[in-house]
Amino acid sequence: MTAGTSTIRLTQRPEWAALADHYEAIKDVHLRSLFAEDPGRGERLAVEAAGLYLDYSKNRVTDETLRLLLALADAVGLRERIEAMFGGEKINTTERRAVLHVALRAPREASILVDGENVVPGVHEVLDKMAGFADRIRSGAWTGQTGKRIRNIVNIGIGGSDLGPVMAYEALRSYADRDLTLRFVSNIDGTDLVEATRDLDPAETLFIVASKTFTTLETMTNARSAREWLLRALGDEAAVAKHFVAVSTNAEEVAAFGIDTENMFGFWDWVGGRYSYPGAIGVSLMIAIGPDRYREMLGGFRAMDEHFRTAPFGQNLPVLLGLIGLWYDDFFGAETVAILPYDQYLGRLPSYLQQLDMESNGKHITLGGERVDYQTGPVIWGQPGTNGQHAFYQLIHQGTKLIPCDFIGFAQTLNPLGNHHDLLMANLFAQTEALAFGKTTEEVRAEGVPEFQVPHRAFEGNRPTNTILAERLTPATLGALVALYEHKVFVQGTIWNINSFDQWGVELGKALAMRIVRELDAGDVAQLGHDSSTNTLLRRYLAQRTASG
Ligand code: F6P
Repeated sequence: MTAGTSTIRLTQRPEWAALADHYEAIKDVHLRSLFAEDPGRGERLAVEAAGLYLDYSKNRVTDETLRLLLALADAVGLRERIEAMFGGEKINTTERRAVLHVALRAPREASILVDGENVVPGVHEVLDKMAGFADRIRSGAWTGQTGKRIRNIVNIGIGGSDLGPVMAYEALRSYADRDLTLRFVSNIDGTDLVEATRDLDPAETLFIVASKTFTTLETMTNARSAREWLLRALGDEAAVAKHFVAVSTNAEEVAAFGIDTENMFGFWDWVGGRYSYPGAIGVSLMIAIGPDRYREMLGGFRAMDEHFRTAPFGQNLPVLLGLIGLWYDDFFGAETVAILPYDQYLGRLPSYLQQLDMESNGKHITLGGERVDYQTGPVIWGQPGTNGQHAFYQLIHQGTKLIPCDFIGFAQTLNPLGNHHDLLMANLFAQTEALAFGKTTEEVRAEGVPEFQVPHRAFEGNRPTNTILAERLTPATLGALVALYEHKVFVQGTIWNINSFDQWGVELGKALAMRIVRELDAGDVAQLGHDSSTNTLLRRYLAQRTASG
């Protein structure tokens, strides 16, 4: 048995039963009472690490709730499980792999063994190679086939090979070299590549083909079309070596594509795609912000890693965030979590966290191979504030669903402009206050609101939020923030006793798509062997495709 895994069913544990009883006792307790009873609650239920301050006081938890949740974490062996991950044990049991994204940001002198081999020197070798390459692009020393310097970088990848780099590039744009244009192409819809390259000069364009496996349909299709686009302009096959580099674990396929493996940045099977951007998958980001800033970002990741590994669970940000999330998911029946960054630069964070969380914990089979009898990963969604306030916050305030929210904000803006930042942050604070405390019918009436409107203009409140505050959005803050969520996902996956590091659920659709591709190529409507709905849709598509021909 791997460290920390257990054969006891989660719902059979006494700690689970204690939480279920406790839920019955406190499910109707209002945040208004919790704050009234304890005037120091706001300062007390807060914790700070790696430059992030987490206020979790506006959650429907008491000291007893936290005690019971922490007891559950201990009972499932969370501490041993953390050590197993950091120690390179093969905790991804369905793929028999270690889970070592933490090694991607380990200091040079660290030693982390996988099958008896220290993987840290290899990590730094790749980081150094990336840095040398990034410097050559940034300085103009690396030129394209015609001798022109590279001004455009197009990252071709999907899922973890896209969402991490694009999210982090957007987040750290303020630190990027503005003379470089970065684009990210992921969708197999040709529109994505066509629009991304339409205004670019091929002679000044570098493609980074980012794919762990180097077999992903979308990425390889886009990469081949990008090569054709390049060769149409530059003619010479030799141009590929100057205009294409790869990030992959699969040197054989990289070479087969025609990319010199000298121009390949490697990683390892012990890094999951959705956990991979701090390593070579982030090379586009490193080109944009430079190696020094990139290392600062890794420092932020590392600070959160160390905190997660060493801090007592009661003061451990990822543990608290994970346990509180699980409390709503499993006991209150909350189905979703909203991620609400009050920073335009973090616009892609919700999409990034969507893959991180949903691909990791969207599982219903335990490590022991049984179906769970409890809820696992929530639906993750969100948008930057204040935009969301004018779109979907109505439902969070007055709808019938309980939606725990994470608000993320910064004390300083990177773009001071009049009083914009105070207005932005005032809205963040106001939203968490309104969600927690609401407005009673008495308060509404006292404002002189006509009686027919009173029930509509009252707010129940008691809607839970976390607030994460940092001084400023820096590369290090971003690293800490991403690591916080990575480890939160790990905490929850450990308690749910599922494998957060495989993704078999994406396979069936991929296989069926390949079968349909073959049928579309053949174009023979008589040979379709699907259900009546799929057959009819395919026939219609084939007929209209030909008609528009
Ligand atoms: O289909 C899901 C997935 O395997 C993700 O887990 C991964 O991030 C993405 O596809 C891309 O995979 P690759 O980097 O191998 O192209």
